[in-house]
Amino acid sequence: MKLENPWKQNPWFESVAVAQQRARRRLPAPVYGALVAGSERGQSVRDNTTAFTELGLAPHVAGHQAKREQATTVLGQQITLPVIISPTGVQAVHPDGEVAVARAAAARGTVMGLSNFASKSVEEVTATGAPTFFQMYWTGDRDVMIQRMQRAHAAGAVGLIATLDWSFSMGRDWGSPEIPERVDLKAMIRLAPAVATKPRWLAQFGREYRRTGRLPDLTTPNLAPPGGAAPTFFGAYYEWMTTTPPTWEDVAWMREQWSQMSGRPFMLKGVCRIDDALRAVDAGVDGISVSNHGGNNLDGTPAPIRALHPVAGRVGHQVDVLMDGGVRRGSDVVKALALGAKAVMIGRAYLWGLAANGQAGVENVLDIMRGGIDSALLALGRPSVHDLTPEDVILPPGFTHGLDDPPS
Ligand SMILES: Cc1cc2nc3c(=O)[nH]c(=O)nc-3n(C[C@H](O)[C@H](O)[C@H](O)COP(=O)(O)O)c2cc1C
Repeated sequence: MKLENPWKQNPWFESVAVAQQRARRRLPAPVYGALVAGSERGQSVRDNTTAFTELGLAPHVAGHQAKREQATTVLGQQITLPVIISPTGVQAVHPDGEVAVARAAAARGTVMGLSNFASKSVEEVTATGAPTFFQMYWTGDRDVMIQRMQRAHAAGAVGLIATLDWSFSMGRDWGSPEIPERVDLKAMIRLAPAVATKPRWLAQFGREYRRTGRLPDLTTPNLAPPGGAAPTFFGAYYEWMTTTPPTWEDVAWMREQWSQMSGRPFMLKGVCRIDDALRAVDAGVDGISVSNHGGNNLDGTPAPIRALHPVAGRVGHQVDVLMDGGVRRGSDVVKALALGAKAVMIGRAYLWGLAANGQAGVENVLDIMRGGIDSALLALGRPSVHDLTPEDVILPPGFTHGLDDPPS
């Protein structure tokens, strides 16, 4: 008779918070710290989740709908729930990295957002069958950017996300985790104390090492020149820091290049004010994400959920308005949809799932979102995500922090 280990943890988790607790236990401190991230005093990263707690929901006691629908489209892609994967560089969280995330997205019928700083190539990710939006920063010269777009298009990316809100903010009051330039012997010895206490994480990478003979190398394969080696994370960051920041004409140029070569849609990520949303529409974008980069950027930027209703009210009839930042449960998604988002993007939520249980953990997170959306729709008496309105949400006075009117 096979004895079951009574202490073995059920790999399934019931909430994103539980996935985060498991990720914290499982990951070496510097890796966990890089995911928690935030910047400066952490005001924005905190506000991203706090703002959701300031919003209430106004359910009905009867008149509920027996059938509830979550399917929608984002930038022309059919998705089975209004949640897509936001691009993140998930270096060193799990050996399968973005490939595991993309498989989970495909399995649950949604879109994969792939960062240009990702640890897996766009070809490996699109090969999973997940509809993929490739994300680019404004880095390198124009020829280099065109070459990277062409590569993503050739690999089958079905949309481009330009993330332009990064401002190279420096320093965190709680200290930044060490990220080695290369995973060589010197770095391994230095990081050994943080890693030695994380046997499950080590075992995963050990299995990968035995299979491929490779350690996580912290390089960025999607930024490799044709036929050349992938730059290290720091090499890529240096190129980015030394690139002249984009103008609105550059945004229009990027959109035009992508549109001409692919005929596919273009999204601008990082909008948090009405005037920028209007300029983005003028630049010809097909969608925007109201976002503050997960609070990792200029600290003091309000939570995107505060800016969402003002922004969606102005441009939601012209372009797809998404939001990302602080989404941890299905009811957060419902609040965002009620305030005008077509869908949301999630970042840390799926990273915790990936760390806790690989591909199945990301699927688990998407299932938590789906279940939570369904339960909120039921309580609100709405037959579909398309029927949500601001009346479903209890909005406290001052919630938008003055973001309602475009500055004159
Ligand atoms: C560890 C980490 C890495 C990220 N890397 C990228 C990136 O490479 N490109 C990008 O557009 N956004 C990046 N983001 C921001 C996410 O796409 C997204 O805007 C943010 O995580 C949303 O907030 P949430 O984590 O609270 O869901 C990153 C976020 C985190 C936490």
